[in-house]
Amino acid sequence: MDKLIVQGRRRLVGEVTISGAKNAAVAVIPAAIMADSPSVLENLPAIEDVRSLCHTIEKLGGHCSFQDAHTLHIDCSNGTAHHATFEEVQKIRASYYFLGAMLARYKKAEVAMPGGCNFGVRPIDLHLKGFRALGAIVEESNGMVRAYADRLIGTSIYMDQVSVGATINIMLAASMAEGITTIENAAKEPHVVDLANYLNMMGANIKGAGTDVIRIRGVEKLHGAQYTIIPDQIEAGTYMIAAAITSGDVLVKNIIPKHMDSLTAKLDEMNVTIEEHDDSIRITANRPLHCANVKTMSYPGFPTDLQPQIAALLSVCEGTSVITENVWDNRYQYIDELRKLGAQVVIDGRKAHIEGVPYFHGAKVSATDLRAGAAMILAALAAEGTTEIDGVKYIDRGYEDVENKFNALGADITRITI
Ligand code: UD1
Repeated sequence: MDKLIVQGRRRLVGEVTISGAKNAAVAVIPAAIMADSPSVLENLPAIEDVRSLCHTIEKLGGHCSFQDAHTLHIDCSNGTAHHATFEEVQKIRASYYFLGAMLARYKKAEVAMPGGCNFGVRPIDLHLKGFRALGAIVEESNGMVRAYADRLIGTSIYMDQVSVGATINIMLAASMAEGITTIENAAKEPHVVDLANYLNMMGANIKGAGTDVIRIRGVEKLHGAQYTIIPDQIEAGTYMIAAAITSGDVLVKNIIPKHMDSLTAKLDEMNVTIEEHDDSIRITANRPLHCANVKTMSYPGFPTDLQPQIAALLSVCEGTSVITENVWDNRYQYIDELRKLGAQVVIDGRKAHIEGVPYFHGAKVSATDLRAGAAMILAALAAEGTTEIDGVKYIDRGYEDVENKFNALGADITRITI
């Protein structure tokens, strides 16, 4: 079990290079099993979730080999098993993308129900409804989902709620269905577009990803492709907020600035100085920063995956801020941990009322999930004294080389293994 020991009140200065997007990687890797020839995936983040998915593919009978830390060769030319029922699969939520991928290639799939970060009920009813609409029979029992079909037939699917996972899973299955599928009220997140681009390079025919309506003309076969994953919008946002919370001056490199619009608008409102370049953003901040209200929404709205990090920042801004969490029904579990560092927050249903305090003070806290863990690091960086963070395994799921990236900017973070 690892812990991070953070000595606070260090101003972050310098440059940080953002890794490939976790949420794109965890969709693209399962998609690679749909191809009858090898794929090479570049700019993958070196994180636990990627390693777990590779391990799963190996166990299914495919071959994964890293050509370097960020480049993965995946070969499932000879096919894979169509059942991922072992315990490991439950560790990451994105394992459910194997359902869509296997259903596409083999017209049958059996996958253990996903785990991942727990911030409220995380149903997959929309995924399963989509598979059924394509003609699959879907059964759920003993923590397993089983889906099979003689033929998948393209159809029109309206999503009752915008769901990234369901949009991706339906896109996977529909890529190899007969005829045309339209997904209306689709998620528009950058990683939805990234997966569509990869599938198209594999020979799929997907149009409209990144808009409300995605149109997929099914094809019989997909081949492997060489593909470069987009930069991680959430990791980038975390370092941008880190610069702001430490009154720092940081150039966040290897990003797509457009993906950061909702955050840059908010930071600008808070009096943070932002310089946008083609593939980088420089953040400069001086206290005091202004309070602000934040509402999380699906893309292009403010991402829920940056909600804990912005809560840490708003906790040390002047005045009262209100966060409204519109995506998840229980994403404030980390607030108790933030309070241990001195934050003054009152939760009222989906809203968090934050009364700014001048500084955090060091304490022992836990990373209750991946992004909550990032928020603990940010708060610790701005805290007087020493903060000890446990639950680091969550942070490692999604942040590459986290302490070294922060330390290169002037932070003082030590990892200890107990
Ligand atoms: C993805 C991200 C996660 C992020 C979330 C919202 C990945 C691997 N994870 O999760 O980091 O927080 O998007 O941006 O990309 N819902 C249903 N039924 C379903 C599916 C979802 O009701 O079948 C609801 C959920 O309870 C939630 C909302 O829809 O309230 C959005 O969930 P969704 O977009 O599906 O999130 P994930 O894809 O699981």
